[in-house]
Amino acid sequence: MRYGYFDDENREYVITTPRTPLPWINYLGSEDFFSLVSNTAGGYSFYRDAKLLRLTRYRYNSAPADGEGHRFYIRDGACVWNPGWQPVRTELDSYRCRHGLGYTVIEGAKNGIEAKQEMFVPLGDACEVIRLTLHNAGAEPRALQLFSYVEFCLWNAVDDSTNFQRNYSTGEVEVEGGAIYHKTEYRERRSHYAVFGVNRTPDGFDTSRDAFLGPYRGPAGPLAVERGTCTGSIAHGWAPVGVHQLNVTLAPGERRSFIFVLGYVENPPREKWAAPGVVEKSRARAMLARYAADTQVDAALAALAAYWNGLLARFSLRSGDEKLDRMVNIWHQYQCMVTFNMSRSASYYESGTGRGMGFRDSCQDLLGFVHLVPGRARQRILDIAATQFADGSSYHQYQPLTKKGNLDVGSGFNDDPLWLIACVSAYLRETGDRSILYEEVPFDCREEDTAPLMEHLRRSLGFTASHKGPHGLPLIGRADWNDCLNLNCFSSEPGESFQTTGPSEGPVAESVFIAGMFVKYGGEYADICAWEGLSQEARAVRAQVDEMTAAILGPGWDGAWFRRAYDANGRPVGSAECAEGKIYIEPQGMCVMAGVGLSDGRALQALESVRRHLDTEYGILLLQPAYTQYHLELGEISSYPPGYKENAGIFCHNNPWISCAECAAGRGGRAFEVYRRTCPAYLEEISEIHRTEPYVYSQMIAGRDAAAFGEAKNSWLTGTAAWTFVNISQYILGIQPTLDGLRIAPCIPAAMPGFTVTRTYRGAVYEIAVDNAAGVEKGVKCITADGAPCVDGILPAAPAGTTVHVKVTMG
Ligand code: BGC
Ligand code: NOJ
Repeated sequence: MRYGYFDDENREYVITTPRTPLPWINYLGSEDFFSLVSNTAGGYSFYRDAKLLRLTRYRYNSAPADGEGHRFYIRDGACVWNPGWQPVRTELDSYRCRHGLGYTVIEGAKNGIEAKQEMFVPLGDACEVIRLTLHNAGAEPRALQLFSYVEFCLWNAVDDSTNFQRNYSTGEVEVEGGAIYHKTEYRERRSHYAVFGVNRTPDGFDTSRDAFLGPYRGPAGPLAVERGTCTGSIAHGWAPVGVHQLNVTLAPGERRSFIFVLGYVENPPREKWAAPGVVEKSRARAMLARYAADTQVDAALAALAAYWNGLLARFSLRSGDEKLDRMVNIWHQYQCMVTFNMSRSASYYESGTGRGMGFRDSCQDLLGFVHLVPGRARQRILDIAATQFADGSSYHQYQPLTKKGNLDVGSGFNDDPLWLIACVSAYLRETGDRSILYEEVPFDCREEDTAPLMEHLRRSLGFTASHKGPHGLPLIGRADWNDCLNLNCFSSEPGESFQTTGPSEGPVAESVFIAGMFVKYGGEYADICAWEGLSQEARAVRAQVDEMTAAILGPGWDGAWFRRAYDANGRPVGSAECAEGKIYIEPQGMCVMAGVGLSDGRALQALESVRRHLDTEYGILLLQPAYTQYHLELGEISSYPPGYKENAGIFCHNNPWISCAECAAGRGGRAFEVYRRTCPAYLEEISEIHRTEPYVYSQMIAGRDAAAFGEAKNSWLTGTAAWTFVNISQYILGIQPTLDGLRIAPCIPAAMPGFTVTRTYRGAVYEIAVDNAAGVEKGVKCITADGAPCVDGILPAAPAGTTVHVKVTMG
């Protein structure tokens, strides 16, 4: 069952009912100011950091769901309705929500009045613009009232939802014409405030939530709306809100727009602006003036569309498969932008107050983003690398605002260092910009202790190489990619086991997964060394990689698949010897991608074992058999009921690894089948089972051991986005950036007749036409670039601004 449809021409998903199984959301904002917006106009806004600079309030886990947002009430006599249905939930005569690239449009109609609510964050500005257009589609003149409603958050979202003894007394506002200023915190050293304005003088306003809603009422039935008049309240403490009342008369056929702006503004530095309690309004006024007229809003929307046209033109596919084209050309890349911006901070499942930027998460997000805006990727790499310690290990998370490592979470996730090599390697292969290797980057954000980025990479590798366990495999530390596999954990408090560090931690548990990473990214580091003329170092690293490969094929091999790990007692995890958790997905994907076992048949054997033991109709399970009991020696993983999350859920993130691995093994048909099975557009028809948005990936789909097999959770912020784009663009379609140029090596289903890709690479445009009349899965018979044969299969970077026509014949 579907709840909408794809409109590929406009690059939108169009939702045709407000009653989606879960809120289906979109992200507005490109760099600093962000809003989350659902198909019923729920959501919230923040500036840079969803925890510390939250503009509007949102209550997670409340009932009814998705209660706060960018709300508008239309009062038409006794009938009160919202264009997005919530929160009043008056039945609408028609409804439509269009989620597009950086904007959302919700259209609702009732009794001959049509309302259109357009929302977006303009490029380069710190605000959300909402244009509400009312149209009288009937033959009679109509008199209506329009009320806006946002509930301000008192900035720090954690304090806002916990420290009421204080924050019920801190709220402050000011009103000037159509502008409502939320200036809580202005007395302190902070110098920011929010403004919520409308482009005309309103007929009324409220800034006290309780005055607007009335005692014991909620947003579903505000007293002021019921009465048709605001109270003109000025909030002192309690809950400040922004409400405008606009009385509107519409002649038959008349259309009128109202432009609202919710903005974040900073005062001049305090030393230059010594007027406590007063906000310096000129910046806010200028911001409101930038969107005071429809022509300005239209221009800002056009600029946003042009921005996305430009970004998406950098990689575009024509394959003849409508679903594949729409995912590659629109939604994969869009989700990569969102995960790059958000890491795992703010979604409808990440509260914005818990996790900030993840070290491993952001490194991986970059893999799918780097081709879009390489300059931002460069800065991100430098920020991430600055949270690395001098010994090569790193903080696991950092705050987006301060860019400082998160002390509460700390370090000890032993896969983290190698992800830094992964993302720098991706950046270099994309851009060829070797200057980044010579940037001085601090350790632990301490300016007095810096080293060139290349040295950071060296220490990443050195950390793994110097922390091996009894089987010659890398020590796992607190966990590797699988946060929940906590093998050094003997805490007697199950709930605390994940966080525990210290003396109860045994040092010896080892990870075959990190070993696979070491082979893959050690190899990429050696390539970088060779490229930089450090041939001796390259050789030494390759020797270390060979040694690690031997350890994987030795104690890391179980007989029919790669083992997952060794626990702190030296017992294998992910082995036929285990009663449960006999086979895990992660090492099969990572080791084969790294090339381990390709020459002796073991890679294929591992992939066959994946197919036999882990395949389901909705994707590949993380492990089998699921843990039915809690295992102290394994940690958080077995705390989940069977079939959920890391305990045998379909963790979407590692599905593309298997697809990539299948390409490494040359099996294009199976690689595509693995891609297709979890790909949202192919699941649209089962939206009632899948439940999350059919245009983006979710972190997890309940596995076959779960009651709700096939139900997805945690949409949007997942490494699946980046890895899927890497998989489809580099492995399956085979357009591979290398240090020396573009290599073309497709691995596709034999039945795919070919495809064309337009790819911007280092400033030049490559028009690549792949012909698979031969009906093979892999293998390139010949490549020509502008008619000339390309001998070694790598197209050297062409001069910026030129277009290269590439013909690839498979066979
Ligand atoms: C989840 C993991 C997640 C981790 C992050 C765990 O509870 O199961 O998927 O990576 O929390 O802290
Ligand atoms: C989600 C986390 O964000 C990611 O870092 C981790 O690798 C996966 N869960 C698996 O545990």
